[in-house]
Amino acid sequence: MRILITGGAGFIGYHLARHLLATGSHQLLLVDNLQRGKMDADLTALLADRRIEFRQADLTDPAFYPTLPQGFDHVYHLAAVNGTRFFYEIPQEVLRINTLSLVLILDWFRRFNAQGKFCYPSSSEVYAGALEAFGILPIPTPETVPLVIADPYNPRSSYDSSKLIGEPFVIHYAQHYNFRALIVRPHNFYGPRAGYDHVIPDFCRRIAARVDPFPIYGADNTRTFCYIDDVARAMQQLMDSAATDGQPVATVNIGDIEEITMTELAEKMFAVAGWRPQRIEIHPAPEGSVKRRLADISKLQKLIGWAPQISLEDGLRRTYQWYQNHPPR
Ligand SMILES: NC(=O)c1ccc[n+]([C@@H]2O[C@H](COP(=O)([O-])OP(=O)(O)OC[C@H]3O[C@@H](n4cnc5c(N)ncnc54)[C@H](O)[C@@H]3O)[C@@H](O)[C@H]2O)c1
Repeated sequence: MRILITGGAGFIGYHLARHLLATGSHQLLLVDNLQRGKMDADLTALLADRRIEFRQADLTDPAFYPTLPQGFDHVYHLAAVNGTRFFYEIPQEVLRINTLSLVLILDWFRRFNAQGKFCYPSSSEVYAGALEAFGILPIPTPETVPLVIADPYNPRSSYDSSKLIGEPFVIHYAQHYNFRALIVRPHNFYGPRAGYDHVIPDFCRRIAARVDPFPIYGADNTRTFCYIDDVARAMQQLMDSAATDGQPVATVNIGDIEEITMTELAEKMFAVAGWRPQRIEIHPAPEGSVKRRLADISKLQKLIGWAPQISLEDGLRRTYQWYQNHPPR
């Protein structure tokens, strides 16, 4: 298969590319402007494979699209401005870049790639607005709940708003121009090379630095964590499945279902690292952090019979090892 991955230097893009190369005879093109993804040793090693090519380009630049090859079998449009810091610092750019790159690539896709299939990652963040506005959300959360922008004045909403605009763009372009497409809603993916902002990389850093007392924010809040290899397998199987070929476009949650509190997560990571602080300091959860987040993945299971294969202990071990060898600069 010929496969295009935008945002290919990022967390999911890199691991998806690695997974695709390991599982099939594919030709891959990765495109990224390296705003967040890095040309590090891992990506450089991956690019040594002759079946993969990399282009540094800005997907908001209309002049780039005429230079793109045509007729890909699958396009994973993963490029987006991601990372909480940016939502607060440059909300206008989050909205512009995420929306403009999507519109430009959809226009390119429907004209030059319409026999292919398009994958768009939305986010579990699209569920946050309904909870904030109405104080209630079914748990586990199915794909069918109403999507709400609770407060457009809050800069944090720039990211989920860009996904709330993006989803209908994909649905109606695919319907009108009659191409196959898929929307996935990721829930807390983790693994090596995921940047340094999320809770697991942050715990890795603080454990490696033997921070004691060890602060935990929102100790009783629960999350699920889905290891990136399981994610890549789910995305590929969903794209390969004829069950997601029809109209309207399928929207599918991807996530694990093993709920764990932040304290339990810390304890598991102490066990992996073979070190435990003398004292743990409990702090309130960061503002806006929800108490529970759990995806209903019955649709994912029904479509492709997916179940995670990497246990949390195993995934945390692999992740901790990687972060030990790659401390933040
Ligand atoms: N990782 C998760 O748990 C998660 C959760 C929810 C949604 N998502 C979505 O999945 C997708 C991939 O996420 P990720 O975790 O790999 O993020 P990431 O930030 O690691 O990767 C995104 C990549 O897009 C690139 N990019 C940004 N703007 C670009 C532009 N204008 N032109 C070209 N490249 C550009 C960045 O340099 C980066 O490498 C994103 O759309 C994100 O919103 C991820």
